[in-house]
Amino acid sequence: MAPIPKGGTVAVTGASGFIGGWLVRKLLGRGYRVRACVRDVDDGTKTDFLKAMPGYISGRLTLHAADLNSAGCFDDIFKGCHGVAHVSHIDAAGSERGGYGDDDYVKMVNDHIIRSVNLSKSVTRVVVTSSIAAVVSESNFDEMVNRPVIYEDRYPDSDNPRLAGYSRSKQQTERFFSDAAEASGSWDSITCCPADNVGPIQSAHQGDRGPWQGLMKKMLQGECNPAVHGYRPWHTVDVRDTCTVQIAILESVMVKNGERFIACNTNKIDVEEVCVRIDRLLPELGFATPDMTEDLDEGGTARRAERRAVYAGTDLRNDRTRALGIIYRDLNDSLRDMAESLISVGEVNPVLRPGYSLNKE
Ligand SMILES: NC(=O)c1ccc[n+]([C@@H]2O[C@H](COP(=O)([O-])OP(=O)(O)OC[C@H]3O[C@@H](n4cnc5c(N)ncnc54)[C@H](OP(=O)(O)O)[C@@H]3O)[C@@H](O)[C@H]2O)c1
Repeated sequence: MAPIPKGGTVAVTGASGFIGGWLVRKLLGRGYRVRACVRDVDDGTKTDFLKAMPGYISGRLTLHAADLNSAGCFDDIFKGCHGVAHVSHIDAAGSERGGYGDDDYVKMVNDHIIRSVNLSKSVTRVVVTSSIAAVVSESNFDEMVNRPVIYEDRYPDSDNPRLAGYSRSKQQTERFFSDAAEASGSWDSITCCPADNVGPIQSAHQGDRGPWQGLMKKMLQGECNPAVHGYRPWHTVDVRDTCTVQIAILESVMVKNGERFIACNTNKIDVEEVCVRIDRLLPELGFATPDMTEDLDEGGTARRAERRAVYAGTDLRNDRTRALGIIYRDLNDSLRDMAESLISVGEVNPVLRPGYSLNKE
């Protein structure tokens, strides 16, 4: 199907979020018209940063209220759009609706969006935001040793009964959309699987999300646990680069329905190294790097070494997105921008060494 035309109109779900917010900004920067879908247009804590974007005052950016849980809420919004970037989360697990892992709920919210895309008669391309968790998410570590290349054709071991709901739901979502697109014959659906997004937040409410910004926020506040996520290193991508990938997918004449693209810079960085780098990258700040020594017995030390060795042996690839022309930022720039934005936009008070203070003049 046709890519979106230059200057065309794109609807973005989850526009108040970390990735969605950057996608809105980057689409505007490339000359597109954007319909930003948020749950509550009047919730200034989540939408003021969108309304402050230059495209808002001219009308090139419009905000629309839509909750994925309500059927038909995207019907009017998608009418006349050329592209849809589905970025939003669904309700969290444990909520009234069930969230990730609740197959019926996942199908229901996907059906809502798909129906509105079909009704629009104008949308030709949808980019679905999946996750690297739909590529690698093993509870059996041997799987990662046996299949260490992390690339688009890899899927987590589907026979694993403990496959996390999030990973399974994302895979289902990818399939729902590509099957529906094929059945429609008038649009196609391509998946972006972002790795762990780092980079600047644009609004204070994004400081706890991610979870990567939330973890860096804790580090700045003097808390860092190297064992978080079972010693899994961060597989990073700058949030701005994730959005460049999503836009490239919307614009490409080469991509095909059902294809997936991993957005990652191929860096793997241990949690404590992220924390140590804050001071290295921002020496003027005087960040008091917390003590991250772990009190481990022999078994714990061996487990940590084993896990780290498995992760070190994986081969994270971004060949397909580089073939789309994506040039990834240096990880240090992303970590620096993330720390600075958490302090300046997120109003996080970092722990500082004696003699240092924030410049608030
Ligand atoms: N961040 C990462 O590192 C990462 C990595 C891989 C994949 N992803 C995927 O990328 C997407 C965006 O992640 P993010 O980090 O940008 O998340 P985020 O900052 O938490 O934003 C999520 C967005 O989803 C919206 N949302 C949640 N439930 C909704 C509902 N029922 N109806 C309508 N909107 C709803 C939220 O709206 P409110 O503001 O109203 O709550 C918010 O705008 C997600 O699909 C996530 O799975 C993220």
